[in-house]
Amino acid sequence: MTSQELRQKFLNFFESKDHKIIPSAPLVPANDPTVLFTTAGMHPLVPYLLGELHPQGKRLVSVQKCLRTGDIEEVGDNTHLTFFEMLGNWSLGDYWKNEAITWSYEFLTDKKWLGLSSDKLAITCFAGDADAPQDSDSFKIWQKLGIKTERIAFLGKEDNWWGPAGQTGPCGPDTEIFYWIGEETAPKVFDPKDRRWFEIWNNVFMEYNKTNEGKYEPLKNKNVDTGMGLERTLVALNGFSSVYETDLFKPLLDYLISQTNFKYDLYKIKIITDHMRAVYFMVADGVQPSNKDRGYILRRLLRRAVVYARQMDIPASWITGLLQKLQIVFNNVYPELNLQSELIIKVVNEETQKFILTLDRGLKEFAKLNKIDGQIAFNLYQTYGFPWELSRELAKDKGQIINKDEFEKEFKKHQELSRTASAGVFKGGLADHTDRVVRLHTATHLMNAALRQVLGDHVWQKGSNITAERTRFDFTHPEKMTEEQKSKVEELVNKWIDRDLQVKREVLSLEEARKLKAIGVFGEKYADIVSVYKVFDPETGEVISCEFCGGPHVEHTGVLGHFKILKEEAVAAGIRRIKAVVE
Ligand code: SER
Repeated sequence: MTSQELRQKFLNFFESKDHKIIPSAPLVPANDPTVLFTTAGMHPLVPYLLGELHPQGKRLVSVQKCLRTGDIEEVGDNTHLTFFEMLGNWSLGDYWKNEAITWSYEFLTDKKWLGLSSDKLAITCFAGDADAPQDSDSFKIWQKLGIKTERIAFLGKEDNWWGPAGQTGPCGPDTEIFYWIGEETAPKVFDPKDRRWFEIWNNVFMEYNKTNEGKYEPLKNKNVDTGMGLERTLVALNGFSSVYETDLFKPLLDYLISQTNFKYDLYKIKIITDHMRAVYFMVADGVQPSNKDRGYILRRLLRRAVVYARQMDIPASWITGLLQKLQIVFNNVYPELNLQSELIIKVVNEETQKFILTLDRGLKEFAKLNKIDGQIAFNLYQTYGFPWELSRELAKDKGQIINKDEFEKEFKKHQELSRTASAGVFKGGLADHTDRVVRLHTATHLMNAALRQVLGDHVWQKGSNITAERTRFDFTHPEKMTEEQKSKVEELVNKWIDRDLQVKREVLSLEEARKLKAIGVFGEKYADIVSVYKVFDPETGEVISCEFCGGPHVEHTGVLGHFKILKEEAVAAGIRRIKAVVE
């Protein structure tokens, strides 16, 4: 099935259920200071989800352009994208769980629509916690539709809860639909950790408003917000293993490869196509390259693509060539692009030419450097236009970590940016990689390993969140940890810190990583190449921890400080949460 067929079927289906088609809103949110970009179809609808009347009524359907930079480290695998399209249907205080779920099921399985086999479906529902009860209604509806109990899993907030990218606003439990893409017959029992179960659709039941104080108040209207990933669903429908095989990407990849003399790095080709799609749509929606906020993200994506293209000796004309291919892929879908194609090509080429003038000199300089610190990264930024992330990446290739605080300090000093502007530069989902966060990140790997030693191999990461203040780590374990177990975990971690073990990143095939018994959650289903971080004793070769992870991490554990567990508590049935610090 082609992308256009899928878009059209989705719109037609919901039109037949009395929904009104609304056009995609721009990537740049009109009146929302909490985010830089539209990250989901619900974003432009926030006022209506909060109770305002929508001019088109209470049932809406759309194909929305979205941009997310939070998963940027994962781009290049089979499923993570910065720019993507989301198919969504909405009930604004109208229908509720029964209709939403029944229609999702009908659209997916009815031969008239997608005709996917219901034997290959699995479902997750919200498990319940202190803020909201278990979503047993959705569970019962799925059962009534014929989904077997063994194919329905209950998960906590990390997995089955959705709210807007900002901190506050409409939110609620969700039920997610997975499709089996494995070659073998779909297993009877659903294991959400098995990556061959591929998430295609999310139904959010928005019944709360998260307030500034972090309270969950019931919403005036109960709303339904669903999001189906266009690219991912095409993978499922066509039996592909990667979004790059779909008609949205294939012409772009073929074109770039044809420009390389067939000597290329496929991973980099994929990243170029992803980033250039984002660049194309950003410029089309009025973003101009600059040193802050949206313009900075645009610049960063474009520069990374340009660097990769140069590394593969692709002739400079590729920019215009690729933008023209993008035009062909999308001009019937978003007709406004037709008017803008020349402008997009001009803006992108001008920005690229400016960058290329200094890029080569900068890369030569970079090769000569032994140690790169935040200040040098800033100089590279000033002199050669290297975005911070590019220096960080190039430094990472040399096995070094740059201190972002130092870079930021220099940046602020020299640019005299206002507080908001400079904060904005590092907003928008670009991960926080300050020194403290990096140290806590490595400490979290050690804690994960220690938990498995002390409690057993049933310990499995269910989510983690690290801020400069603390690490928060959710994991599977059936009961409260005893004081003795907590002390043992602290002792083990501190022992490893004292031994000043080495930390090293390795890029491996998934199979090699499995052989090393790598643990943790890696980006997404079915990456070909994965990044793992190993903590080991260089003298004895003893491996303490090996985890799927994109980093960054410290180079040796001696710099971490003293590790301490602040709190251990329940988050959901069978899931515990630890908050810990290094001091
Ligand atoms: N807002 C939800 C999501 O992005 C469903 O549309 O997954």
